[in-house]
Amino acid sequence: MCGIVGYVGHRQAVDVVMAGLRRLEYRGYDSTGVAVAHEGRIASAKKAGKLANLDAVLAESPLPAATTGIGHTRWATHGAPNDANAHPHLDSEGRVAVVHNGIIENFAELRAELEAAGHELVSETDTETVAHLLHDELKVTPDLPEAVRAVCRRLEGAFTLVITDAQQPDVVVGARRNSPLVVGVGEGEMFLGSDVAAFIDHTREAVELGQDQVVSITKDGFEVTGFDGSPAQTKAYHVDWDVSAAEKGGFDWYMLKEIAEQPQAVADTLLGRHTTDGRLQLDEVRLSDDELREIDKIIIIACGTASYAGLVAKYAIEHWTRIPCEVELASEFRYRDPIIDRSTLVVAISQSGETMDTLMAIRYARQQRARVLSVCNTNGSTIPRESDAVIYTHAGPEVAVASTKGFLSQVVACYLLGLYLAQVRGVKFGDEISQIIAELEKLPAGIQRMLDEGQQVRDLAADLVGKRSFLFLGRHVGYPVALEGALKLKELAYVHAEGFAAGELKHGPIALVEEGLPVFVVVPPHGRDQLRDKVISNIQEIRARGARTIVLAEDGDTDVERYADTLIRLPKVPTLLQPLVATVPLQIFACELAVQLGYDVDQPRNLAKSVTVE
Ligand code: G6P
Repeated sequence: MCGIVGYVGHRQAVDVVMAGLRRLEYRGYDSTGVAVAHEGRIASAKKAGKLANLDAVLAESPLPAATTGIGHTRWATHGAPNDANAHPHLDSEGRVAVVHNGIIENFAELRAELEAAGHELVSETDTETVAHLLHDELKVTPDLPEAVRAVCRRLEGAFTLVITDAQQPDVVVGARRNSPLVVGVGEGEMFLGSDVAAFIDHTREAVELGQDQVVSITKDGFEVTGFDGSPAQTKAYHVDWDVSAAEKGGFDWYMLKEIAEQPQAVADTLLGRHTTDGRLQLDEVRLSDDELREIDKIIIIACGTASYAGLVAKYAIEHWTRIPCEVELASEFRYRDPIIDRSTLVVAISQSGETMDTLMAIRYARQQRARVLSVCNTNGSTIPRESDAVIYTHAGPEVAVASTKGFLSQVVACYLLGLYLAQVRGVKFGDEISQIIAELEKLPAGIQRMLDEGQQVRDLAADLVGKRSFLFLGRHVGYPVALEGALKLKELAYVHAEGFAAGELKHGPIALVEEGLPVFVVVPPHGRDQLRDKVISNIQEIRARGARTIVLAEDGDTDVERYADTLIRLPKVPTLLQPLVATVPLQIFACELAVQLGYDVDQPRNLAKSVTVE
């Protein structure tokens, strides 16, 4: 997730902004930049890579002394992570500088309009369009906050913008829709930041901006309005976190923060993918419709949690596209002499885009002439670079080693792929696709509910803290949820945990069941009654043998109540979407059990976030 800093005050703006960016490094980034307002012109520097690269640029050609500035750490969404795409972006006269976090959904239209009017854009970003729109707007509306409001009214999607105008150096303006922005209130100086870490070295007095608000800061104060110019309500608060807590947004662990970010991660991954007439557009898919129509087999390859996202996706992709779909562990794939050719679509799922097993598997697949599409969270990483097409998940950087928001957003991205293939191949009508998308768009609220109800799971973890063994059961899409629930517990709490297909229970694992063994069971929604009834029988089987049953079932499913020692309620969602809500309490449970056991949740022993060896 991009990091944003804005400053107006009495100190050297470059120093304050660079220090703020350093505090925001934890958010993850691939390029950086800074701009100051100086004598009616913007002076700026930007560079791909880490802040040290920008330091080197500034050491070579320092920016002029100035007390107003903005800065940015970029996590690429539109355009590769290179120097040209790094923020700030300027208008053609170098009067305004813009930094941005989010995705402007209608940027392609805006860009076309600007180019038709003679503007020359030099980057591939959605952000640059804002600088050019402002350039034009300032000619009509010279007041910067007013011009920013006018431009914001034209933007669709999610955006936090911070802007400086060299001709109005006493003010920096921020705008917020969806992505966060906070004001830091100092004495004789004001700050803007993606979060309080950006300015915590200078002030602990903060003001949170609401949705669709524009703020202008001067060294002596700030003013907030809605996009329409009407005065707006804000919330002031005192930050009593230390610096490390500030980086985690007040959570004790990055993983908790990332679990809490899942509604946003899912919403952002869905953002801008479909038109109002129900047509999906995945602009990163560089395979022609004809090529996609030729596909007769899909093989998903991935490791760890990503492979379980693939297992979930298999059910939806096969159901929607009627194309046979296999899921294979990347580390096994090329050693079994797989049957692949030009009509095979290999889908590589990787949060980091750097996992060596997955990378070697796609290299092998390409040698065999298969088409490779990757689902990835890291723009410009190796796996998407070596793929024929890529769908980016927009989950923002994942810092905790064990994947959480990565998983949910991978499932969503794979679902978009499945629907896209169904559309291209004509096996689903537009209205059917729209209906499924509408259900997907309701998910962030369902996920938020699971977060809000997390205390039940935390209490359960406290209760089960002495247990050394856990089972997880599910059928159909509930099966990979069980596998993921068990994996999270192994990774974080170092206990024996296994996920099974509930139907397999009787073929072996039931021998493990003994008095007091905690068993999580994911119950399919109503509407899959045959499947549901079988799972309910499975719960009875284990309960009869002394298991302590923790049942995840949708609202209104009263049949399960008698068999559940603990009942975790899930919102009613279609079967194929249930994993996206059911996984959340399992993540919270694993995290809490690890905390209770005193383990490092973010960096579990023996594990690495990105495994770059085979
Ligand atoms: C490592 C991590 C896991 C992750 C897996 C795949 O093993 O510890 O959390 O699921 O790699 O990572 P990727 O970046 O390819 O999704």
